[in-house]
Amino acid sequence: MSAKKKALPRPPAKTAKKKAASSKAVSSKAVRNKAASKSPVRKQPDPHASLLDELVQRATAVRKNAYAPYSRYSVGAAIATKSGRIFEGCNVENASLGATICAERGAIMQMIAAGEREPIACAVVTGGEDGASPCGICRQVLAEFAKDMPIVLVGLGARDGETGHVVQLADLLPLAFDGSALR
Ligand code: THU
Repeated sequence: MSAKKKALPRPPAKTAKKKAASSKAVSSKAVRNKAASKSPVRKQPDPHASLLDELVQRATAVRKNAYAPYSRYSVGAAIATKSGRIFEGCNVENASLGATICAERGAIMQMIAAGEREPIACAVVTGGEDGASPCGICRQVLAEFAKDMPIVLVGLGARDGETGHVVQLADLLPLAFDGSALR
């Protein structure tokens, strides 16, 4: 693994709202209303907050390109790298359903093809009432390049505006298989 573990700040417990202790509630009202002038991340105690805002906007935009005729569940993802670049992906389904590629993996493929290998933050945007967590395969693919990073999960469909929260990849995939057994 090329990425070194980064000391990323954890959200203080007081910001967690109706979520597990490892997650942070954020409001995606601005995103939901497509009025990007206001931050979707509440209180912003986190230096990554403005970056997460930008990632949410990019993931929301690319989600419109999702090819999801079978599930009708569109997903957009955006990944920021250490160098300052952002890579996007959307889900691409297939009539052979197992050939479907998730948004997160699409973004990782773009990142690698561009010669980048150090993701530092990710956003995943869906249309449901709450943000959806990356699937197991995507967690493993993300963990190949980042032992840990914040992932903001945003659902665009909630009525109350409390649709997003930040989780840590290391919490989503503890004890990830890291390939050390292969070396
Ligand atoms: N999907 C993603 O894009 N990312 C995930 O982490 C979970 C699922 C997509 C795949 C499929 O096109 C649709 O959502 C329903 O599973």
